[in-house]
Amino acid sequence: MSAAAGASGDGGNTAGCGVIITIDGPAGTGKSSVARELARRLGLDFLDTGAMYRAAAAIALDRNIPIDQPRELVEAVVKADLRFDWTTDPPTLLADGQSVMRRIRDADVTAVVSPIAGIPELRRLMVERQRRIAAEHPRLVSEGRDQGSVVFPNADLKFYLDASPEIRAARRAAQLRRGGREAEESVLVREIMERDRSDSTRADGPLVCPQGAERIDTSGLGFEEVVGTLERIARGRLGARVRGGERAVAPGSAQC
Ligand code: DC
Repeated sequence: MSAAAGASGDGGNTAGCGVIITIDGPAGTGKSSVARELARRLGLDFLDTGAMYRAAAAIALDRNIPIDQPRELVEAVVKADLRFDWTTDPPTLLADGQSVMRRIRDADVTAVVSPIAGIPELRRLMVERQRRIAAEHPRLVSEGRDQGSVVFPNADLKFYLDASPEIRAARRAAQLRRGGREAEESVLVREIMERDRSDSTRADGPLVCPQGAERIDTSGLGFEEVVGTLERIARGRLGARVRGGERAVAPGSAQC
């Protein structure tokens, strides 16, 4: 672990040059794309924590591990040595050294990821991993459901993005179609509402608007407006602690 470990091992209390921005919210608010672009503009690294839960779900499916066997699942995830390759943009998530970036977007993974993400033993492992990543990449935009509430409660800046289920389903459908996949919007609305219910009612790390978070309803906003809003707030709050203009460093090497 790097010398910066203490900077975020305590939940994102980033002393020194570290900057942690969290972006939480339900599925389909465009969080991942917004977080990635915000990180690029501010010269920070980008962590997609949903990808980590999706990878765990893919491991469970591909190895036939039942959901009621949490210990077996955690062992398999540890053994798969989940890690990001930070030399790509966005960082590539690897399991057993192989990219899982396509597999984790498959429909069967999406269908089971929410109950799997509700497994407390798995959440403990993921929270610990995410804090360790932040210790090694202390200038970070981290996106998920519990980043500002549980993983980095002392983050420098927290956002909560929301939008109506219909808008979120339409965005997801467009995203799937761009990737050459089929998308039925009425089915997506149902899936999104079910996932919201499951994500926000679980006992461990539920989806909540974290204390002190800037809440932004993106329903009537385009991508550029959302990113621009977050960027303006971040620059206003963090000033010289974030970079001006275009990213000047390679992904994964955001430095002070
Ligand atoms: O953002 P996403 O759709 O890729 O997230 C996949 C699932 O993982 C979703 O059901 C919510 C869950 N998740 C979570 O519980 N905690 C996080 N920090 C990130 C995602």
